[in-house]
Amino acid sequence: MTDLVTDGPEGSLPGKPTSVSRTTLSHIMDASHTNLLGTVHGGVIMKLVDDAAGAVAGRHSGGPAVTASMDEMAFLEPVRVGDLVHVKAQVNWTGRSSMEVGVRVLAERWNESTPAQQVGSAYLVFAAVDENGKPRRVPPVIPETERDKRRYQEAQIRRTHRLARRRAIMELRERRVAEGVDEG
Ligand SMILES: CC(C)(COP(=O)(O)OP(=O)(O)OC[C@H]1O[C@@H](n2cnc3c(N)ncnc32)[C@H](O)[C@@H]1OP(=O)(O)O)[C@@H](O)C(=O)NCCC(=O)NCCS
Repeated sequence: MTDLVTDGPEGSLPGKPTSVSRTTLSHIMDASHTNLLGTVHGGVIMKLVDDAAGAVAGRHSGGPAVTASMDEMAFLEPVRVGDLVHVKAQVNWTGRSSMEVGVRVLAERWNESTPAQQVGSAYLVFAAVDENGKPRRVPPVIPETERDKRRYQEAQIRRTHRLARRRAIMELRERRVAEGVDEG
């Protein structure tokens, strides 16, 4: 197996197991991260999520990758100053040039000796790009465990829904322009 990605003919990229690029980003929350309530701002968590997912996408694709979308960002529990936050990310699914990265956010409470608690989750799509910012092919991800396989199948469902939703919205907009209701 190689980490190098070449833009060769269809099918020339070897697959990569999920575990090769899976990673965890850990960060202690401090007072600069808070919102008006004194808990951690959601945007701070989203930045960590994007950072961890970007690292995974870069490792899997062997080069630069940009965030194409972030969806289903869920905040399950508040994060507090002093908590140690772990952001766990892995490639769930790969297409031709895009990858869905699944992210789980866990918090170790600074004042409790309980196991880390899940406080958030998100799904991001990254596109691997070349030096001109154009999409380039990615190695297919090889799910290893039953959990990886379930995540792969769920990611395919999300992909189908994303494409269908985008197509339906584009068709509606075009129809409204054609009817003269909206400007193009
Ligand atoms: C993402 C980007 C590279 C896509 O370029 P494009 O010319 O639209 O290329 P394509 O339509 O071929 O899309 C490439 C892949 O990304 C996927 N994709 C594009 N936009 C997407 C979106 N909004 N959501 C999910 N997937 C998306 C496509 O389905 C395609 O997947 P596939 O190759 O696996 O089938 C381009 O839109 C871009 O550069 N966006 C800015 C990214 C960025 O700067 N992010 C940081 C935010 S500041």
